[in-house]
Amino acid sequence: MGRIFKCSLALLTALAVLVPAFLGGGAASAARWGKNYFPNLPVITHEGKKLRFYDDLIKGKMVVINFIYTNCPDICGLSTARLIEVQKRLGDLVGRDIFIYSITLDPKNDTPKALKEYAEAFGVGPGWLFLTGNPKDLRLIRYKLGERSRSLGEHRNGVMLGNDATGEWARDSTMSNLDILAGHIRNLDPKWRARKRKPTKKRLTTARGHTLANRPGEGLFLKACAACHTIGKGVRVGPDLKGVTARRDRDWLIRFLVAPNVMLAKKDPIAMELDAQFQGVRMPNLGLSKTDAADLIAYMKTQTKRISSHAKASGRNKANPQP
Ligand code: HEC
Repeated sequence: MGRIFKCSLALLTALAVLVPAFLGGGAASAARWGKNYFPNLPVITHEGKKLRFYDDLIKGKMVVINFIYTNCPDICGLSTARLIEVQKRLGDLVGRDIFIYSITLDPKNDTPKALKEYAEAFGVGPGWLFLTGNPKDLRLIRYKLGERSRSLGEHRNGVMLGNDATGEWARDSTMSNLDILAGHIRNLDPKWRARKRKPTKKRLTTARGHTLANRPGEGLFLKACAACHTIGKGVRVGPDLKGVTARRDRDWLIRFLVAPNVMLAKKDPIAMELDAQFQGVRMPNLGLSKTDAADLIAYMKTQTKRISSHAKASGRNKANPQP
């Protein structure tokens, strides 16, 4: 536990997690941005459509907005991948009642084509638009949304949740528990907040990754890696990590986990090959220490072993079915 806390803490510090302002209940810290607050400037979607920011994207809608750029070497990718997990939890509400917008922080490089490639690499579903446009216009939109960083490196990784119909806006974080974030998004809808709650059997807030976290690296893996990688369940955003500790040597893995962008810049042949294979998205540099990397390697190894022994056991059961 102590160990997990330590690694997560390093990561969380690096991620500058924001304290969420809760919607519903006591919405004291949530802003109220009414009509005329947002500029109605033109933006272009990853599908090349020209839209007006306020009239077409915000007016009367419930929205989730974050800021990314496709060349981001660190956590935009993790943030996007975690938001995909939230989108899955919200199901067909996204695109019908709730809309997700990712606004680029780098409109000069992020053409609609670049954003489309990025969206496809992550497998975003309908109801989620990536937006670019004139840098000056986007700066103003961002400013109004509270994103006021001056350089790409210091951008925030929070999300804004808003309901234009009620004028309620609040900041949240993609690094918080995803079930809770999905709950905050649903709470944008006053009808949902007012519904009669049936007693639920299953607690919504099982802190995955914390209760299970006696294995070194597990909590960190669930929080920082699982949105992009599976171990034994196939390619997600990045490669399936089953058996990765056997197919790569340990020293390479440590260096790659600590600074994948540096490996690529140095033209490491394996990093180059992986980059060519996974177009549109890169393994992020998450500020991991060597100890974090060693814990993650131990976890990937144990999980691989566990899956293999499960597979063997179920093979045996098939051969000798129980009466
Ligand atoms: C935003 C998505 C994303 C996140 C988050 C992410 N990765 Fe990756 N990872 C990738 C992609 C994509 C690649 C393929 C290389 C590339 O394109 O940069 C990769 C490659 C890898 C590789 C090399 C695989 C191989 O076959 O050699 C390992 C190991 C790895 N990641 C582990 C991790 C671990 C551990 C974490 C969590 C600390 C993590 N990744 C977080 C996207 C991600």
